[in-house]
Amino acid sequence: MEVLIERLNDQGLGICYINNIITFVPNTVIGDLVDVEVIEKYKKYNIGKVIKYIKKSINRIESICPYSTLCGGCALLNINYDMGLEFKKNKVKNILKKFSNIDIDLDIISFNNINYRNKITIHVKDRKIGYYQDKTNNLVEINNCIIANREINKFIKEINNYNIINGEVVIRCNYNNELLINFITNDKLTIVKSNLKIVGILQNGKVLFGEDNFIEKINNLYFKVSYNSFFQINRDITAYLFNFIKENTLKNKNVLDLYCGVGTLGLNIAKEENNVYGIEIVRNAVENAIINSKINNINNTYYLCGEVKDCIDKIKNSIEVIIIDPPRSGLDNKSISVINKMLPEQVIYVSCNPITLARDLNSFKDYKIDKIVALDMFPNTYHVECVCVLKLY
Ligand SMILES: C[S@@+](CC[C@H](N)C(=O)[O-])C[C@H]1O[C@@H](n2cnc3c(N)ncnc32)[C@H](O)[C@@H]1O
Repeated sequence: MEVLIERLNDQGLGICYINNIITFVPNTVIGDLVDVEVIEKYKKYNIGKVIKYIKKSINRIESICPYSTLCGGCALLNINYDMGLEFKKNKVKNILKKFSNIDIDLDIISFNNINYRNKITIHVKDRKIGYYQDKTNNLVEINNCIIANREINKFIKEINNYNIINGEVVIRCNYNNELLINFITNDKLTIVKSNLKIVGILQNGKVLFGEDNFIEKINNLYFKVSYNSFFQINRDITAYLFNFIKENTLKNKNVLDLYCGVGTLGLNIAKEENNVYGIEIVRNAVENAIINSKINNINNTYYLCGEVKDCIDKIKNSIEVIIIDPPRSGLDNKSISVINKMLPEQVIYVSCNPITLARDLNSFKDYKIDKIVALDMFPNTYHVECVCVLKLY
């Protein structure tokens, strides 16, 4: 059926209507006139597939990645970057309105850096290397990922030398172009020489060569990061986030850094604060955070390893500022109720999922948004990061 793509949904899929039923069509942009076949029918919507582009939209640009329509990772490579930013800004605005009735204008900060990703996970199936197509186990073979750091791309071309047949390879690269690799596989691997700066090779978390960690740097701070510790994937935007948090956090306060990872956000402000208490579930990350305090000559930080919901009420000190940077699922009810009892003067909520951000904001009834910005942490994908400063009123 011939249809016009009217707008994009939150995942960057084109929206059209077929027999008045909303239909989401991958690989389309606003203004495309397409022949669409419905390939999946659900109660309230359809999924369509383009059979033919009848007239391509003037908004469309040639994707710079040959795999973008196949792997689905970079849904916005068919429109120009500024249009993608506008999409993300409106996405956050609409979600805040829809899920928490917040009407707010916000800026989006971007560096339009292409090879921004400092970590990727690649799949290997019968020695073939690639990404899984969105929501499937179908391998899309690739030998280059344009959003990944250049050294990571060089390593992709060397993966087969290690004799992995099936499994996954987690490839990380730091500010100094050093690589840390974890092969997740039961295959017998061969360790080979490489001209790349590989600081560690692991198999299922066990060191086969070198170290199980490397050093990262954001602004003037250094961070030890173990192979399984979280680190923000876009260094430029993270540097901006650090500066934003530093400028906007109240000073000389006791700060609780929830979901603290290797200590990043808390260490960024620790020198201006009384004490920083961090909570994080991954043991290696907590050990990294303790060492990272020492590396950066900071001695007013304290860490607990465990789930936020189990540890948060073990903090008996009065807390005046809380930084929250949860995974996509956002906060749990118990933690929200403890935070509301702690009643800090300020809450700084960093989120990679505007839907759970909007949901959680509803639970902070005594707070108002003082500042909010969107960050293009994940250029060319439909994902967007937000940082939100809440003030007790
Ligand atoms: C989005 S990352 C933020 C990390 C850190 N704030 C940073 O900027 O690098 C979320 C962190 O929460 C941790 N995490 C996930 N679920 C958790 C839980 N239930 N309790 C505590 N930490 C958790 C993850 O291991 C990860 O380090």
